[in-house]
Amino acid sequence: MSDTPLLVRALRREPVERTPIWLMRQAGRYMPEYRAVRKDVDFLTLCHTSELAAKVTLEAVEILDVDAAILFSDILVPAEAMGAEVQFIEKGPSIANPIRSARDVEELRVPVPEEDLPFVAETLRAVRAALPAEKALIGFAGAPFTVASYMVEGQSTRDYVVTKSLMLREPAVFHALLERIAEGTIACLRAQVEAGAEALQLFDSWAGFLAPPEFEEFALRHARTVFEGIRDLGVPTIHYANGTGGVLEATATVGADCISVDWRIELAEAWRRIGHDKAIQGNLDPIALYGPPESIEARAKAILDAAEGRPGHVFNLGHGIHKETPVDHVLALIDAVKRHGVRS
Ligand code: CP3
Repeated sequence: MSDTPLLVRALRREPVERTPIWLMRQAGRYMPEYRAVRKDVDFLTLCHTSELAAKVTLEAVEILDVDAAILFSDILVPAEAMGAEVQFIEKGPSIANPIRSARDVEELRVPVPEEDLPFVAETLRAVRAALPAEKALIGFAGAPFTVASYMVEGQSTRDYVVTKSLMLREPAVFHALLERIAEGTIACLRAQVEAGAEALQLFDSWAGFLAPPEFEEFALRHARTVFEGIRDLGVPTIHYANGTGGVLEATATVGADCISVDWRIELAEAWRRIGHDKAIQGNLDPIALYGPPESIEARAKAILDAAEGRPGHVFNLGHGIHKETPVDHVLALIDAVKRHGVRS
């Protein structure tokens, strides 16, 4: 057995004994143990308190026995360090001082992770110290476009009217915002690797709302800057781009080792279009976990079959676990992937 975690070997497209699995949002409200911690602290306090963040990170891995831990934090934690006044309310994130002008962009600070976010490195160090060697520790950040969309809208949105209006009316201002976020993101990701992260995922959750030319210019270009800024670290990277089935070939040029795809596209087709020289992560519909365990197993098997035993497949959902998902169904999925994902 190799000392290198299974997930890291799969991301490097080395032959592995079993398809690794971890789940986006594996630590979250569907889990009673998470809700018990959240009963006493609000979400951002949980992110800022390394003992608690490490506890929920590790608890999810222990309960699920997945192949990786993902840092418990949020894509808006670095945004907070840049100057965004972030709050989490009932319907999601809310930012009291949204970006609307060149001046607002100039006032944003580039975070110094050791000073502004020391709790992130502390969480990672605590998790790595307690995590079994064969399980990988994943660090992450939001991609510039997705983080910018929250900073500009000030809240979740269905249509991105405020973001796209700024992008179209004042592209130079929007690019300046994206560049500043990219710079801060590179600093944060480098600090995460220094603190023990062994793989990095960039979440461009909302880039799929852009039309192809804008996707290329405003999302991909700045995500590429981030991957270029961390490449020398030699840590495998994953790009998560929800809703980008229409622009997969372009997405594959972002500079990541692995492309994480949503459930709206068949895995075999997605991999062909990304190119078999890259790893792929995905791609079960998170809502499939509301179905009976037999159907979950059948869908998991279909995805594994579509990967055809090729090196470089990491099993995951197409987006984060939904908050009322039955835990026993999540366990049934993991069990099915471990049974069917074995190389013969
Ligand atoms: O995956 C993990 O287990 C690690 C933790 C993690 C969280 N958020 C915890 C969280 C990660 C990797 C994220 C990333 C994140 N945050 C993304 C990208 C991934 C995606 O889902 O597309 C985005 C867009 C955000 C912003 C965000 N944070 C939203 C829109 C919300 C509200 C929606 C919701 O599910 O409530 C959050 C809150 C959030 N982030 C929760 C968790 C566990 C729920 C907060 C709570 O406990 O009340």
